[in-house]
Amino acid sequence: MSRGRLITLEGGEGAGKTTHSKTIAAWLKAQGRDVINTREPGGSPLAEAIRGVVLADWAEGIDAPTELLLIFAARAAHLRATLLPALERGSDVVCDRFIDASWAYQGAGRGLPAKALQAMEDLVLDGLHPDLTLIFDIAPELGLARAKGRGNLNRFEAENLAFMQRVRQSYLDRAAAAPQRCVVLDASLAIDQVERQLRQVLESRL
Ligand code: TMP
Repeated sequence: MSRGRLITLEGGEGAGKTTHSKTIAAWLKAQGRDVINTREPGGSPLAEAIRGVVLADWAEGIDAPTELLLIFAARAAHLRATLLPALERGSDVVCDRFIDASWAYQGAGRGLPAKALQAMEDLVLDGLHPDLTLIFDIAPELGLARAKGRGNLNRFEAENLAFMQRVRQSYLDRAAAAPQRCVVLDASLAIDQVERQLRQVLESRL
């Protein structure tokens, strides 16, 4: 049996990834594929527990290296318990955020050096990369307004606009550097228009 495909969704806050990940899974199932939806940080019981720690507000604060290590600890647990077994049994995996988020948030956002990100990526991913990465691009002001409409903001959603602009630019730069893997979609459009773009991408890329 052939290995499943890894499809990742990325983008700033309020880009609608969660809705779109369901559309992608439904589209794949209609093609007769076995599919799982998962997310990062999270996606296994241990990784979900770490997610709770990373997103919580701590009176003592969380510095950037602690955040990086927790996110990669969650990723390592998720890969071993959920993601790799699914790919190996031939299921497609639709993952809401993955490695590009670490480069965008911990790298560009928090300013951690590329060599730290690369070391973590080499250790935890060991050469694994997504088959397709969909980047839902949205101006931070608009994304934030949408995220606020959903209720309480987590530590990342509560960051300032300059942070979010660095995150956005990092995603766009990574997409430009890997056009065979990444597709940028305009997530500022109405949801049905984004869905239309998304279906075209799925039909041409998968
Ligand atoms: P979510 O809002 O998409 O559920 O993700 C939770 C937060 O985790 C999001 O604000 C971005 C952050 N995050 C990182 O900072 N680095 C990462 O590698 C991942 C996967 C998420």
